[in-house]
Amino acid sequence: MKLLIYDHDGQLVELEDVSAKTLMLGIRDAGLNLTAQCGGCASCGTCHVYVDNAWQAKLKPPSELEDAMLDVVEERRESSRLSCQIELTKDLDGLTVTLAPGSAFE
Ligand code: FES
Repeated sequence: MKLLIYDHDGQLVELEDVSAKTLMLGIRDAGLNLTAQCGGCASCGTCHVYVDNAWQAKLKPPSELEDAMLDVVEERRESSRLSCQIELTKDLDGLTVTLAPGSAFE
């Protein structure tokens, strides 16, 4: 599947043939700058992304755990999600997100 990622510099990076289980893993596997410190258990917030408007309705709503974590990330928006909680399914082919502030590895 394909993912379109705007990195922290605003550059669009197209990832092809992604086979990772979650969005966070797909971004990390491609070598993009995403901290994802807790490894995917929704407890660090450093995999924060903004989901493109066109894709938001295609995602399952965040769990209570994800929503609570999003409350403490930097610059939460309506479109905020934890990329580790987004499972990559076929219907998300072409998913477009922007890496949020605070998720870059310093
Ligand atoms: S990797 Fe830690 S919350 Fe997603």
